[in-house]
Amino acid sequence: MDAIRLANLTKKYGPVLAVENLSLAVPAGSMFGFLGPNGSGKSTTIGCMTGLLDPSAGEIELLGERFTANHSDLKRRIGVMPENLGLFEPLYAHEFLSFIGRMFGLDEATTRTRVGELLQALELTDSSKTLSEYSTGMRKRVAFAASVIHSPEILFLDEPFESIDPAGVALMKQWLRRFTEQGRTVFITSHVLETVERLCTRAAIVTRPGKLVWQGDISTFPIQYDGREFPALEPLFLHLTGERYADLKWL
Ligand SMILES: Nc1ncnc2c1ncn2[C@@H]1O[C@H](COP(=O)(O)OP(=O)(O)OP(=O)(O)O)[C@@H](O)[C@H]1O
Ligand SMILES: [Mg+2]
Repeated sequence: MDAIRLANLTKKYGPVLAVENLSLAVPAGSMFGFLGPNGSGKSTTIGCMTGLLDPSAGEIELLGERFTANHSDLKRRIGVMPENLGLFEPLYAHEFLSFIGRMFGLDEATTRTRVGELLQALELTDSSKTLSEYSTGMRKRVAFAASVIHSPEILFLDEPFESIDPAGVALMKQWLRRFTEQGRTVFITSHVLETVERLCTRAAIVTRPGKLVWQGDISTFPIQYDGREFPALEPLFLHLTGERYADLKWL
């Protein structure tokens, strides 16, 4: 079964085409890497799949159901860590996570237990600071905690590891691997191709504006494409998206 299906998804911001006719299928239980250059529509696609943005055209199916931004039952079954984190800055971490847990329909006792466990595991026990006073990596950890607190069936993570220290990244990867072993699905964007190569089983590569140029299995290399053999994800990505050279005389 596919956990995610996109059929001709298109998103325009006014006249700006950000995602163009994107069709994609993500099997349930996969750790799926969604890759592409800056401005290629990755965050926009995640926004459309999680109800943060309205698509201009096309269809989104999650867990076998047609997804729209007002499908609240389906929204409770997914989790998202958006690019801009979506934190409520004036709150303390425990207040924010408790609010999110309750919003997702967890009862008070379960919320309290999970907030405590998440804060402990993610080393966010400094309760003297509000989210606006936290460091960048700490804020990122809170956003990650908020995306998993309700044990979603699909997790959308937009650049989740950026700014997180190595021990934090190792812990997150451990949780994500267990998550997919249980048959749940992770959809992840990252520019760190070594991480994607080690973590993900499948990937899709998009170019501007949100156009799919490749998707496939990345659990084994080399990959054959265009009559060539690619020993790793990076050369394949550069081949598809264009390698750039610029020689600045003064640099
Ligand atoms: N709120 C907005 N208003 C207008 N245009 C936008 C808006 N958000 C994104 N865009 C445009 O949509 C396109 C895709 O942007 P998006 O943020 O989805 O790319 P991305 O692949 O996530 O890039 P990055 O790797 O830099 O995070 C870009 O051309 C961008 O300028
Ligand atoms: Mg982005």
